Amino acid sequence: MTTTFSRAIQFRDVNKWYGPLHVLKNVSFDVAEGEKVVVCGPSGSGKSTLIRCINRLEKHQEGKIHVEGQELSDETASSVRREVGMVFQSFNLFPHLTILENCILAPMSTRGLSREKAVETAMSYLERVRIAEQAQKYPAKLSGGQQQRVAIARALCMEPRIMLFDEPTSALDPEMIQEVLDTMTELAQTGMTMICVTHEMGFARQVADRVVFMDHGEIVEQGRPDEVFGSPKTQRLADFLGRVMASH
Ligand SMILES: Nc1ncnc2c1ncn2[C@@H]1O[C@H](COP(=O)(O)OP(=O)(O)O)[C@@H](O)[C@H]1O
Ligand SMILES: [Mg+2]
Repeated sequence: MTTTFSRAIQFRDVNKWYGPLHVLKNVSFDVAEGEKVVVCGPSGSGKSTLIRCINRLEKHQEGKIHVEGQELSDETASSVRREVGMVFQSFNLFPHLTILENCILAPMSTRGLSREKAVETAMSYLERVRIAEQAQKYPAKLSGGQQQRVAIARALCMEPRIMLFDEPTSALDPEMIQEVLDTMTELAQTGMTMICVTHEMGFARQVADRVVFMDHGEIVEQGRPDEVFGSPKTQRLADFLGRVMASH
């Protein structure tokens, strides 16, 4: 029997501190299966912390987080992590391994795939991100945009149900941003649950079901992209949008 969860992620009154610094303040927030959520907000507002709490790269101290029906705790962290793929600003590919080897390592060691099966899976995802022809190269031979597409493929090789992206294009040269956004847009069309921290408004408008605006550890506003970007209800969001527009 397959179990379906209408909610992929649920935060209830989540609080987190780094020492004295209160970084997540009573955050409650749901993500439905297949939903695409874009998280935006000023630097230091807690966006990375929020999404890192989903796969327990960071621990929250108060409140509850459920991921695919499991409550997140030390005991469930490893099984939850298997459901969640993550792509960071820095691609973190192993420089001494080829693209293909980068993609088969974790599936073989943590999912127990045979090398043959891991290679088959990796090649299918490298094709999905249109980079299969680079499989035998080392990361340094690829452009930043290509490396980030490999990092996406590598995460997909673990067959996650949820993908988290933390500013995946902000370290890229401008001319490489679009190829990564295009890859993410195609992934969104497969029905994957996605949470993406990004200030790429065009992407958010095109792909996001919902935009969440954070400031000082709080979710200040959320709604459809046209609502959030078009008619901000708070001065904090209006100011933020003004700054982002000015820098794009
Ligand atoms: N490991 C850490 N230890 C202490 N403070 C941290 C740590 N990580 C982040 N912070 C602080 O927590 C706040 C939120 O950070 P972060 O979640 O990275 O924000 P954002 O991703 O929105 O820029 C910031 O003030 C940041 O300096
Ligand atoms: Mg961040």
